[in-house]
Amino acid sequence: MHSHPEAADTLIVGAQLYDGTGAPPVERDVAIRDGRIAAIGNLSNWLAEEVIEANGRALAPGFIDVHTHDDTHVIRSPQMLPKITQGVTTVIVGNCGISASPVLLKGDPPDPMNLLGERDAFQYPTFAAYVEAVNAARPAVNVGALIGHTALRSNQMDRLDRAATAEEIDGMRAQLEEALSNGALGLSSGLAYGSAFSAPTEEVMALAEPLAAAGALYTTHMRTEFDAILDAMDEAYRVGRHAHVPVVISHLKCAGPSNWGRSEEVLKSLEGARRLQPIGCDCYPYNRSSSTLDLKQVTGDIDITITWSEPHPEMAGKLLKEIAAEWGVTQQEAGKRLQPAGAVYHNMSEDDVRRILSHPATMVGSDGLPNDPLPHPRLWGAFPRVLGHYVRDANLLPLEEAVRKMTSLSARRFGLAQRGEVHIGYHADLVLFDPAKVRDAATFEKPEQAADGIDAVWVNGVLTYRDGEVTGERAGHFVARGAASKGDAHGAF
Ligand code: ZN
Ligand code: CU
Repeated sequence: MHSHPEAADTLIVGAQLYDGTGAPPVERDVAIRDGRIAAIGNLSNWLAEEVIEANGRALAPGFIDVHTHDDTHVIRSPQMLPKITQGVTTVIVGNCGISASPVLLKGDPPDPMNLLGERDAFQYPTFAAYVEAVNAARPAVNVGALIGHTALRSNQMDRLDRAATAEEIDGMRAQLEEALSNGALGLSSGLAYGSAFSAPTEEVMALAEPLAAAGALYTTHMRTEFDAILDAMDEAYRVGRHAHVPVVISHLKCAGPSNWGRSEEVLKSLEGARRLQPIGCDCYPYNRSSSTLDLKQVTGDIDITITWSEPHPEMAGKLLKEIAAEWGVTQQEAGKRLQPAGAVYHNMSEDDVRRILSHPATMVGSDGLPNDPLPHPRLWGAFPRVLGHYVRDANLLPLEEAVRKMTSLSARRFGLAQRGEVHIGYHADLVLFDPAKVRDAATFEKPEQAADGIDAVWVNGVLTYRDGEVTGERAGHFVARGAASKGDAHGAF
């Protein structure tokens, strides 16, 4: 026994500890010192500058939002309110083929890069410049980054409606390699979008080749989430096999009424592939999607809500069919007049969302769109919605399993070293919440609302959010890719 009491910066006493691994909770005290977890156990002999009584509330690793479009938001709004209020302590930016860097625009950002901001938001011609800007902004959360295929295309190509030439692919690869050498986590694609749809699989395969040596991964907003989804999944597997890299399928869903009910089939495909290669997916806990307005999805068989329109900002919040009726035109024509615009698509079945969300290979990622004036509520609500609505109220999955999908699974897959678990020596990214009260408050009508029941959030050991208020401290920073997840003893995939 120590005769001298040990000292911590912060002591969290009497928590139900969800360590992130999926293990059931246990009552523990946790000590934080110098930004790290210093001790876990019965720490009644410890002293600390600050003692927080957990009173049996849940203490978990800070949530990792693996699917974000926060690239420029972490710099322009470093308080990161939509995320810190959910208990998110790390965001991964650069998803869906679009990243803020390395980018040198020739004009306005092509769709959907405009989701990240207007032309003046793109100021990072190299990944190193982006990393520097993130750290200079001192964001409240940690930031990991993917490099977007579409962003690289827009740098190297005069037009995006064709395949890249061998020379252009070389140019993209050189930029990707610069990013990987500066700690990027991997490559993302957004093959469904017009700006990347003309890229053949071989273009992506060639571009993915440098990933393996760097221990990086490939994530994809697939070529389609509609009827041909199984072919699109095969394409994603093929890229992974060719480049010998893990694959993450972004926001896995069965989109469109003719596709509803197919999640069993889709997950069977995923499970089959997982026997041969490392693959996972992320999803957000809502049955409506959101992106820029895509006229291909204006088919008349689902409702579409307009969230923004450059020529017609007054139409935000209205259904496209109402706007079309008001103008006395077809929905296609109304959609054309609204462009460029953003939309929420009422395009999933609840059963499919539940089946995909509860699958053990699925991580939680918000896909939140912080630049949208009427953002899909997933931006402010994704994580508490899983914990409150799906875990507590709908009993869809155990709390410890939901926490695993937000923490250790995510950290291992993306190579975020010493995060995602409450473990001695790990970074002290932590969230204290009340499982009985946690609840998403953001709605489609009023989306910018902080969650209830998130009581305290620490980032790198620093108390950043407490009892509904930010403390003013911002202790996040850029996080480089850590050890490759492939050889991980825990078998992340
Ligand atoms: Zn996407
Ligand atoms: Cu996305």
